Amino acid sequence: MIRFICAKDYDEMSRKAANVISAQMVMKPESVLGLATGSTPIGTYACLVERYKQGDLDFSGITSVNLDEYKGLPHENDQSYYYFMNDNLFSKVNIDLNNTYVPDGTIEDAAEACEKYEEIIAATGGVDLQLLGLGHNGHIGFNEPAEVFPKETHCVTLAQSTIEANARFFASKEEVPTQAYTMGIQTIMNAKKILLVVSGADKADIVYKAFFGDVTPLVPASVLQLHQDVTVVGDEAAFAKIAELI
Ligand code: GLP
Repeated sequence: MIRFICAKDYDEMSRKAANVISAQMVMKPESVLGLATGSTPIGTYACLVERYKQGDLDFSGITSVNLDEYKGLPHENDQSYYYFMNDNLFSKVNIDLNNTYVPDGTIEDAAEACEKYEEIIAATGGVDLQLLGLGHNGHIGFNEPAEVFPKETHCVTLAQSTIEANARFFASKEEVPTQAYTMGIQTIMNAKKILLVVSGADKADIVYKAFFGDVTPLVPASVLQLHQDVTVVGDEAAFAKIAELI
């Protein structure tokens, strides 16, 4: 089942997404949160930090597992997703860093890196709430459009469009890593609840395809139509093509 929450703009989307995460944390202080990177959730993390500072949220019992990481980037690289998480959330709240997990991009052997990450996720007892962004081509995590849904954590070669979209964060396109480790579709679907955040007119087409089109690995996010508990928080611009349908 998919619940749509429409916000007027990015800031309201961020607050409403933070409401969902806050509710999860209050109801279960030992939650395992699946976390995401990309530009969309930055405002959501800022709201969570704000609420922590106000004394309304406690991260001490929280465990986190991130969706993905560029292959080859060490933690100290400011474009690594580990660095992003530390910068936007971990260093600003009282989460125990020993309970935060991001795939290790420095492990050369992909099979070893992916197997290790699946073991880590299993050891947490499973994800209670998985936060997701949405790529322009429908990717979630770094699960790119494909012939089949990849199941578990795996190594992907990034689509050219993803490299171009992410080049804005790097000095040049050539510096964007070409591969990444990402949770698979099955890994993501195993989460008890899913929260997807989406903002901006440039995502309106893919929002329509993902949630009202066919369920197909060519649009990886469409698989979420088969999950029992999905909340999509988007702004009016991103919901422009589904406004009449929700
Ligand atoms: C990146 C990330 C995804 C993210 C997506 C959208 O490539 N791997 O996890 O959801 O692209 O990013 P943005 O929110 O910046 O549009």
